[in-house]
Amino acid sequence: MSEAAALKKSQDELSILKEEFSAAIATAKDAAALDEVRVSALGKKGRITELLKTLGALAPEIRKERGAALNILKDEISSKLEARQKELSHAELNTRLEKERIDVTLPVRPQPDGRVHPISQTIDEIVTLFGAMGFTVAKGPDIESDYYNFTALNIPPDHPARDMQATFYLPHQGEHPTVLRTQTSPVQIRTMMKEKPPIRVIAPGRTYRCDYDMTHTPMFHQVEGLVIDEKIHMGHLKGCLMDFLRSYFGIKDLPIRFRPSYFPFTEPSAEVDIGCSRKSGELKLGNGGDWLEILGCGMVHPNVLKNCGIDAERYQGFAFGMGVERIAMLKYGIPDLRTFFEADLRWLKHYGFLPLDIPNPALGSNGTTAR
Ligand code: DAH
Repeated sequence: MSEAAALKKSQDELSILKEEFSAAIATAKDAAALDEVRVSALGKKGRITELLKTLGALAPEIRKERGAALNILKDEISSKLEARQKELSHAELNTRLEKERIDVTLPVRPQPDGRVHPISQTIDEIVTLFGAMGFTVAKGPDIESDYYNFTALNIPPDHPARDMQATFYLPHQGEHPTVLRTQTSPVQIRTMMKEKPPIRVIAPGRTYRCDYDMTHTPMFHQVEGLVIDEKIHMGHLKGCLMDFLRSYFGIKDLPIRFRPSYFPFTEPSAEVDIGCSRKSGELKLGNGGDWLEILGCGMVHPNVLKNCGIDAERYQGFAFGMGVERIAMLKYGIPDLRTFFEADLRWLKHYGFLPLDIPNPALGSNGTTAR
């Protein structure tokens, strides 16, 4: 065969190949089919690859021409493969967009009618903050023996401190008179009698006193805290309460004052005040030159440790107690204590929380009422 005839034959061969592959590329239905075409043309044993391998055996003049033609074919097929690949992935995306379309005209899901009561919310917040400091929750009964509520807390029967708390007495049940607990402090006793130090608990719960006005209801809530270990001192008490109060109220530089006081179950005892301002006639927490009493605390009295069978020479500890309503009212701008327990749904809707609400001290409890 003449050189010219041989070249012609090879060109014909290449244009047939080109048509064949172009058609296969154009009709490939998906990425897998397209890949098959790529392999059969340009893969290790692909037809174009095989032809390229034969170039070495050809006479130099023919090799030059045929090599150029083969490379052009290879480039053409490559770019066709690439273009089809893009087309296919576009099409795939479009079908997905079509299939997974979101109907933005659907009405929003209705909000649940129920709300989390501000007391539950506040207790949750307190438990979370103390939980982060390694405290666990302890519990005790609402109907309590007068021994746990008073006597074991270093308040003997004839002690005048009993008159500090207007107690609801119930009929005797056994050896000691029975009361509705006036404070959460008896949970300290129950915990120390049950557990060995180190102890680190908080005890939120209901408490009862015979009182009723804007700032007192016969049932209210307290949270008690108790830490017992070796080498615990007043510095731990201060640090712990300062961290808690500043985090709870969300005020980094909230002024905090420990003022000497008296509680029968602690020695020394202190009352804790936080900084506020009353200048504008409205109470504002923070650095305002005024003070507001917020909780009671102290180092656990050695008599209390002894009453619970704890070696007072080896162990010390601190305790504190605070009113849940009071700190909820302050944080969420709720003016009247009595409204907490009136079960008025309008009140609950206003001050209550949705389960996933993130409380914001700058706003009202449901994020809508400015303080
Ligand atoms: N139980 C006290 C009350 O109801 C509050 C209290 C004060 C609790 C000092 C404590 C404490 O644990 O150390 O007034």
